Amino acid sequence: MERTLMIIKPEAVSQGHVGDIVRFLEQERGFRIIGLRMTRLSPRDAGEFYAIHRERPFYEDLKAYMTSGPVVVIGVEGEGAVVRMREIIGATDPAQADEGTIRRLYAANIQNNAVHGSDSPENGRIETSFFFSSQDFLSLQG
Ligand code: CMP
Repeated sequence: MERTLMIIKPEAVSQGHVGDIVRFLEQERGFRIIGLRMTRLSPRDAGEFYAIHRERPFYEDLKAYMTSGPVVVIGVEGEGAVVRMREIIGATDPAQADEGTIRRLYAANIQNNAVHGSDSPENGRIETSFFFSSQDFLSLQG
């Protein structure tokens, strides 16, 4: 079964959008949440999580931003979860995001863009495992 990771980023958390986003995922789009917690990324965590962007000019700013306050990490499972999640998140730049998407609703700009979502099934597995252990999912199987 496909898994994907959402991160509700620091400004969306500090502005109190966690409940809206979780309700949207569950009630409006029918996603099945398999893990959820609030955490604060260390510079090392953020650097590792976004290592693919290491050479990009925004990498240091992105790390600083992602460590600036608590985030909420959400693991989701379901058929086609990666693409379905990306559809409701919207384009990276909120100015380009479709009406009704999470980024259109809650994001400030291309960096402070409210949420992250995994971009492929392979990364969905890798990123879900970054924050949740298989132990966390044991109770779901009973
Ligand atoms: P996310 O989907 O979490 O993946 C990488 C993040 O880098 C992205 O969301 C933005 O927060 C940030 N990002 C991507 N492109 C840019 C950019 N051109 N300028 C600044 N930040 C960016």
